[in-house]
This record gives sequence, structure tokens and C-alpha cells, in this order.
Amino acid sequence: MSLIELKNVSYRYPLEAELAIDGVSVTIEKGKVYGMIGNNQSGKTTLCNIIRGFIPEMFLGDLTGDVFYKGKSVASYNIGAFAAEIGYSSQNPFTQISGVKDTVEEEIAYGMENIGIPLERMNETIPKLIELFHLEELKAKNPYELSGGQKQRVALASIVALDPEVIILDEPTSQLDPQSTEEVFKIISMLKKRGKTIIVVEHKVDLLAEFCDEIILMEKGQIVEFGPAHKVLSDPRILAHGGSLPQVSEFFITHLHEKGAIPITMSQAIKKLKGAEAT
Ligand SMILES: Nc1ncnc2c1ncn2[C@@H]1O[C@H](COP(=O)(O)OP(=O)(O)OP(=O)(O)O)[C@@H](O)[C@H]1O
Ligand SMILES: [Mg+2]
Repeated sequence: MSLIELKNVSYRYPLEAELAIDGVSVTIEKGKVYGMIGNNQSGKTTLCNIIRGFIPEMFLGDLTGDVFYKGKSVASYNIGAFAAEIGYSSQNPFTQISGVKDTVEEEIAYGMENIGIPLERMNETIPKLIELFHLEELKAKNPYELSGGQKQRVALASIVALDPEVIILDEPTSQLDPQSTEEVFKIISMLKKRGKTIIVVEHKVDLLAEFCDEIILMEKGQIVEFGPAHKVLSDPRILAHGGSLPQVSEFFITHLHEKGAIPITMSQAIKKLKGAEAT
């Protein structure tokens, strides 16, 4: 089912000469995980802000084309209510913290209070989130005392707390170590199992290969490649557009000169090599 639809969308920031988004059309389906890749300044964050209605509402500028959520124009939704439909974690963890709460636990509760979740449900949910995001030792700390990576985990927990239909994560692992990065992707996978639709802007293509259904490649404000992860991430043509290949695909293409279907994950590679052994 199509959940979000962009039709020929272009956008220019106020006072800018160039379009930041240039003729983008895309359909986001319910329950899928989308990985968004592309060079710096290619328009990934801008596109996320268009989808969640912050552009043009907050940033002003000129937006043309149509943006639909559940078949209705995004502009027709109340922006406050819409924030409960589409959860968003910003690329900059330092802007994530509300600044009005003294502890991590209260910070997670803050968004829930704002959308009127009953106290009983909050008391039930918050300890589960603290456990899920490994925040036990941090829960009484001031959010401002946390490292960038810890803030990212708190920000993610605060979004999951609101139980939104769509979750947009703009470079959620940029400050995280490899283990916490894996955990974020495991949480993405768990959220997908709960029927959520997820858009994740991320440079780590090995993880995108494992966890995403579809890949969106942005270049200069346009979507230059869009399709199933196994197709996009095994196609060396993406290299010329700011994309990169998972290590596994690169190995099969460069070293094994594979011409058939290229595996993009380790488990696909093992399967393929075992198959080759058997024949
Ligand atoms: N608030 C703003 N005002 C004016 N121009 C902006 C603003 N934010 C982004 N831009 C411009 O819009 C274009 C797309 O930027 P955007 O931040 O969406 O790219 P991105 O792919 O998210 O980049 P990055 O990988 O660095 O996060 C760039 O040319 C950028 O300079
Ligand atoms: Mg960005």
C-alpha cells in the first residue's frame, strides 16, 4: 500500500538560487525499510523535511509538486499532529534534546506527555524503552551530559516512545560505535516487524544491504536510482553518482568478476559460493 507519495516535487530554500530538490517523484510503501544514500549536500535531509511537512511550514521557500500522506496532501495536516504520525531523528544529535528536562527518563517521557499519552501507559512503556536502548545507567543523567552517541540513543528511544507510523532517521549512527550501530539496525528490523515504515539516511551500505528493502540514491537534488536493495547495491554504476557498494558486492565484482546475480550480504555470498562448490 502506498503510504507517502511525492509527485514531481521541487524545492528552493529562501534566498537561494539553486533548487535543493529537483523534480522528485517517489512512492513509499507501508511496512518497508528504505535506505537513502548520496553525497553530502545531495538533498537527503531536505527530502526528509519535505516528507514530514517541515518544508515549507518551518523553512518557508518555494515548494512545487504534490506530497501526499495516506492519500491526503501533507499541507492539509496539522503540523503538530503530523509529528505523531512521522517520527524524525535529526542528523545532529545536539539539537534533539528538548532542553526542558533534567533526566534521560523525563526526556523520553516529554514527547509522550506532549501528545497526551496516559500516565499509566507511559509508566509501562518507558522502562521497556530504557531496557531496549540500554539506557539503564544513563536514565537519571542530565541529557546535556551525554556523549553524541548516547544522545542519539535517547533521541531514538524518544521517537519509538511515540509509536509513529513512519520513522525517519537522518544518519542515526553517525556518532555510534560499531556495536551500537548494529543495535540501531536491529531496532529498525524490530520496528519493521511491528509494521512500521522506515526511511534511514545512512552511509554504511553494508548494513543497508542487510536491513533495507529499497534504496534511494540522491544526487544534486534528484533521485538518480531507486529500487530493491539487491539491485541498486550490486550495480557498479551507482559509484559514478555518489553511491558506494557493500564490501561483498565489490569483492564479487572486482575480484571474482562475477557476471550473474551479485550477492550484497555475507549470507548471500556464502550461499552463492557453496552453490558454486556443489556444481
Ligand atoms: N537551511 C538551508 N538554507 C539554505 N540552503 C540549504 C539549507 N539546508 C540545506 N541547504 C542546501 O540544500 C542542498 C541540500 O542539502 P541537504 O542538507 O538536504 O543535503 P544532504 O544530502 O542531507 O547533505 P549531508 O550529507 O551533508 O547531510 C545543499 O546545497 C545545501 O547547501
Ligand atoms: Mg543531511
